[in-house]
Order: sequence, then C-alpha cells, then structure tokens
Amino acid sequence: MPFDLKLLSPKRLALALFFYVTYRIAYRLVLWPYFLSPLRKVPGPPLGNPISGHFPTILKEAAGVPQRRWLNKYGPVIRAVGPFGIERLVFINPEPLKRILVTDAVDFPRPDFFRHMMGICAGYGLFAADGADHKQMRKAMNPAFSIANLSAQTDMYYDIIEDFMKVLDAEIDAESNPEEGKVLPVYARLNKVTLDIICKTAFGYDANTIHNNEDPLAVAYEELLDLQSGENLANLFLALTIPGMPTFFQSRTAWRLRNFFKRFRATCVTIDSMNRVKACSRAILQERIAEVSTSLSETGTTRQKDLISVMLQARMSENPDGKDIGAYFSDAMMAEHVLTFLLAGHETTASCLAWTLWELANDHKSQSKLRAELQALVKESPRPDFRQLKDSPFLDAVMMESLRLWAPVPATVRKAGRDVYLDGVFVPKDTILYIPILVFNTWKEHWGPDAESFNPERWFNLPDNYNSTFSLLSFTAGPHACIGRLMSIMEMKAVLAMIITRYEFDRLSPDQVPKPTTGVTTKPADHMPLRVRKVLRV
Ligand code: HEM
Ligand SMILES: *[C@@H]1O[C@H](CO)[C@@H](O)[C@H](O)[C@H]1NC(C)=O
Ligand SMILES: *[C@@H]1O[C@H](CO)[C@@H](O)[C@H](O)[C@H]1NC(C)=O
Repeated sequence: MPFDLKLLSPKRLALALFFYVTYRIAYRLVLWPYFLSPLRKVPGPPLGNPISGHFPTILKEAAGVPQRRWLNKYGPVIRAVGPFGIERLVFINPEPLKRILVTDAVDFPRPDFFRHMMGICAGYGLFAADGADHKQMRKAMNPAFSIANLSAQTDMYYDIIEDFMKVLDAEIDAESNPEEGKVLPVYARLNKVTLDIICKTAFGYDANTIHNNEDPLAVAYEELLDLQSGENLANLFLALTIPGMPTFFQSRTAWRLRNFFKRFRATCVTIDSMNRVKACSRAILQERIAEVSTSLSETGTTRQKDLISVMLQARMSENPDGKDIGAYFSDAMMAEHVLTFLLAGHETTASCLAWTLWELANDHKSQSKLRAELQALVKESPRPDFRQLKDSPFLDAVMMESLRLWAPVPATVRKAGRDVYLDGVFVPKDTILYIPILVFNTWKEHWGPDAESFNPERWFNLPDNYNSTFSLLSFTAGPHACIGRLMSIMEMKAVLAMIITRYEFDRLSPDQVPKPTTGVTTKPADHMPLRVRKVLRV
C-alpha cells in the first residue's frame, strides 16, 4: 500500500511533536528521577519541585552547608537532584573520595560543563585537560612551582605588602582619632594585594591595583568575579551544556552580539569581561616573550623569576634530553596558563586571608599568640624567607586551621567515566559526583566534636587517623590537586607575617556575623568590615 501523504499533514506533525516533547520532559523531570533511575533508592532529601529539585536550597545557603546537613541526616552517600532532574551523588567516606580523586582518578574526569566553565574563565590549560594530556602538561609545568623557583619570588611579595601597609598607615592616620583605628573592608583590600602579587609572580606584571583603581585587567576581573552567585553560575552552567556553546562563547561573533544577551547578564558579562582580560593578557605575554628572548640571547639567562618567564626560559633554552615540552609552552598555551594563574591564584588567597582575619578578630588569644611569634620572627628577619615562614609553628597552625574551616574552594565536581561501584552503591557512567571539600574538612567523625569551630591548637594534637595528603581536602588530592598549594600557603603566610605584626583586628560588634557567598570560591559577601588598629609596640 502506498504511503498516505495525508498522514504527514502539518497538524498531525505538530501534534506528534507536541506529544514527543511533552513525553521527553515528563521523562526527564518525573519518570527518570522518581521511577527509573538506578540511583532512586539512594537516600537523600525529599525530591521537591520536579523542575528545580534541590537546587533552590543549594543556592540559598553557603556552599557545602545543605550538603553537610543532608549527609548528617541521610548517611554517607546521598543523592541530590535538580535542576531539570540532573542527579548528583555526594560521598563523605574517605575510601570512595580517595578512589575518585587519587587512586582511580582516570575513571573520574571533570564533567564537560565544568571543564568548559573553567576553560572559558580560567583558560583551557590544566583545568580543562584530562587523562594523558593533563599528565604531560602537569609534568611540564610542575618544575616552575618547585620550592627553589618559588623561593626566588618572595621579595616580590614583600615589595607589594610593604606598599599596602603604607597605604593602610596613611588611611588610619587620616582618621580624627587614629588610636581607635579605622573600619575597613578587609576582603576588598586584600583582594588588591593578592591580585598585585599574582600578576607580579605569575607574569611579571605591575597591576598596582593598591594605588590604581583603573587597571584594565583588574577592572575586567572584578566584573567577572562579582558575578559569583549560585544563580549566575547555574545559568552559565546551563548555557554551556548547549552543544556548540563553549566554542561560541569565545568567538568574536559572541562578543559582537553580546548586547543581545543583556537579559542573560551572566552570559553577557562573562563574554565581555573575558574578551578584555584576554586582550590584556596577550599584551603582557608578548612583552614577556620579547624580554626573555632578548635577555637569553644577550646573557644566556634571564633575571625574571615570574612563572611565565621561568617557563619561557625552559622553552627557549635547548632541551638536552630532546623531550618536547614546547607543545605545552607554545604561545597559545601560555596565554591559557596566564588566565589559569590569574583566576586560580587571586580570589582564593584573598578569601582565605579575609576569613583568617575574621577568626583572629574573634579569638584575641590566638591573635596575640600569633603576633608574639611573628614579631620575634620579623625582628630577626624583616622579610622572612620560605624556610622561616614554614618553620613558624603557630603561623602554620593558624593557616592550616583557616584553610580547613573556610576552604576557599568549598566543593568541586567529577563524573563517573564508566559504570562503577562506590561505597557499595552502583554509579552509572556519567553520573555527576559532588566532592564536598568543606564538609569533609569539618566532618566530626574525623576531626572530633569541635570540628566546626576555629581551634589552631588542634594542629599540635592531630587525630590518630590524620593523613597529610588526604585529611584536608582544601586543595583536593591526586593528579588534579592544586598546583599552587605551596605558592599560596607561602604567599598567605608572608602577608600574615607582615600585617599581624603591625595591626590589630577587631569585630565591629559582638553580634557581627560572617556572610559567606555561594560560588566557586567562598568569599565574604560584605567584604568583611573589621576595625584595624596600628599595633603600638612593634
Ligand atoms: C588558598 C589558595 C588556593 C586554594 C584553596 C586552591 C584550591 C584548589 C583546588 C581545590 C583545586 C582542585 C580543583 C579540582 O580538583 O577540581 C585547585 C586546582 C588548581 N589550582 Fe589552586 N588553589 C589555591 C591557590 C592557587 C594558586 C596561587 C594557583 C596558581 C598560581 C593555583 C592554581 C591551580 C591550578 C592550575 C589548578 C588545576 C590543577 C590541575 O588540574 O592539574 N591555585 N586549586
Ligand atoms: C624552575 O622552573 C623551570 C621551568 O619549569 C625548570 O626548568 C627549572 O628546573 C626549575 N628550577 C628548579 C631549581 O626547580
Ligand atoms: C595517606 O593516604 C594516601 C592515599 O591513600 C596513602 O598513599 C598514604 O600512604 C597515606 N599516608 C599516611 C601517612 O598514612
């Protein structure tokens, strides 16, 4: 029988399409999560609204906080759902986390939406690479972060910190009653210090934001980082799951059309600010390349100690063992690394320093103890070096305690690269795994009943099962662990050594409360106002 074309009338087609779409939506939002998903038996909070699921709760609170409540209530493996029926598993036991991050890391790559999000905002370098490619890239880059290379950078920190303290002194002296000190948004100030430091140490650039509010690179970053809210991130993540979107985001066309996206503010601002960041970083990179090649050809070496110059020197000097590290240090890749260091290395350290000051402002005993240790150190050596910073016991305890309690990156994500069993649960390929960094760091079974409070003394009496690579997840662990761990700890210690010696920090009132935001980093939403006084007897 010949095919009856009438069957294909527009009306019928429209109806069929309507039923198909309705079915797909019902499948995604209801059938799958409630009745079909192999994960439906995994405990977790009640599913709630089928479109948004648990997402509104997650966005309302600081990152990690609802997850901590759920893990406490529903056990060591939970399922969170939404938006649009997307399922995530959260594990808290060390064993499955160790497999995901360390021992079986190749089976648990970063999900594509996260790779692209990081790629677009932080460069398609270490954050976006996976597997063998990542391993090679990391191997090529690790030496630049060696203790020897980092130790050569400490003077750059101190130049900037001393400059910052001059500005603070002037601000306090300008008050009508300088002995009372001045109320300052310490996060906002420290953010300039850490941006200046990362620009200088990562690629030899004087951003000088302590004095100059208009540095184009800083302004563009400010706009990008101000987007950080759960909602904006969710919008960006969703946009990036649309096929072709990540490439489009980076195109000239997207930039030209950016004003069409005005309604989607996160998208519009990301495209616009990243375009400016890239223009600045390309210019800085060209300068470094010219400088390093001139000094190499003239003297056979370079005085520049910033990460990019150090890598450029490695690329330009011959490779005796014939290994091609060039691919990871090509001009195009270097431009990606610049973006990575900028984004990874500045807001994290600023937030961590601000939370440290918050805790010290609440704990005068620890603040005085730290000041006594540091004043003795600075008296002996006005610019403490790597070893001296490392060997100051209470400084180390305070630093580790605030990294633990205020993990600047409160969570990250992975996905199951294949079907696996984790902690006795069947996890189908492509399931998103939420890594609860903050929850793990403050888990009572590991850290004891006072796990959620600030107590630097605990670092002198660690839990029996403490494991130096795995008990604190602030930098995660395994092949994707933070490459800037040592660098950031050293930088933050240098900042603390200087400012705690010279200033006292106090809360504005006994009922001041901390206001952490939900985002990729935990920054204080109110920029952390504290009263800052000069220490009279230094
Ligand atoms: C307190 C400061 C910092 C914290 C808490 C921090 C935290 C983290 C975390 C948790 C990760 C792993 C993310 C994941 O596993 O998905 C990471 C990765 C990374 N961090 Fe940091 N970071 C800090 C400072 C820095 C600095 C100063 C730099 C560099 C200059 C840096 C560069 C990187 C890079 C390149 C990666 C990707 C590593 C890879 O995938 O191989 N970080 N960081
Ligand atoms: C410093 O970094 C460069 C480039 O990665 C590397 O070739 C060199 O060996 C490093 N120096 C030390 C002492 O680790
Ligand atoms: C810490 O855990 C890692 C990863 O499982 C393991 O290889 C290492 O031996 C442990 N270290 C200590 C001191 O227990």
